Amino acid sequence: VRVLVLSDIHGNLEALQACVAAAPAFDRVVNLGDIVGYGANPNEVIDMLRQLGALSLRGNHDKACAGTMDLSTFNPMATLAAMWTRQALRPENLEELRNLPQGPLYIEGCEGVQFVHGSPLDEDEYLLSTLDGLEQLLHIKVPVTFFGHTHIQGGFAIEGDEGMTLRPNFRKRDQAESYEQRLRRDGRYLINPGSAGQPRDADWRAAFAVFDCQEWSVTYYRVPYDVKCAQRKILDANLPDRLAHRLKEGR
Ligand SMILES: [Fe+2]
Repeated sequence: VRVLVLSDIHGNLEALQACVAAAPAFDRVVNLGDIVGYGANPNEVIDMLRQLGALSLRGNHDKACAGTMDLSTFNPMATLAAMWTRQALRPENLEELRNLPQGPLYIEGCEGVQFVHGSPLDEDEYLLSTLDGLEQLLHIKVPVTFFGHTHIQGGFAIEGDEGMTLRPNFRKRDQAESYEQRLRRDGRYLINPGSAGQPRDADWRAAFAVFDCQEWSVTYYRVPYDVKCAQRKILDANLPDRLAHRLKEGR
């Protein structure tokens, strides 16, 4: 089974389309949450995920936009975007957001793998530092955990006695790239496919990953997309300018 793993699409339709177009053959789509918030196409992104038959779990922005979370932890820009998104959503899409499950999720044919938004214990937790990642890995029983939330592609591993941070070694910024990593059967991994719709690792290209459950390998991808179009829609929607500009900065 080959799983296309998407995360943090944030209403960016152009980025999602570029990811799906660039992905190699896959059997399933799993989406790690933050489908909406920030971008100008929340309905179109939800519709496209439905067409793909994606298995989705909820992110903090999905909860915020669905009105199932208190907005007090959100900064003013995120709050504005959540309020804009809530009123833009069609009723059936709002309902779908409300009903998104909390992780961890598991899929058939991919034993030993779990999917979460923030961390296995806390869906809203950010795993940013090596220490954050390794602390989690010491307690997680499942060999491979896919997580999102930080918008940073890569992750953390324990192989034998060694703990490490994983970052795909990409150099280009103007064309598509992929990077395959074979995982050890006795290793333990936390892997972030990166953010499709609002990367924050200094690379503006849309990010995703494909996991091959038989080969036990993960391939990271970065693909250019029509960022100008996504930016223009954000400005046209009167969302904060910063939400448009940051897309090209990758932060
Ligand atoms: Fe996010």
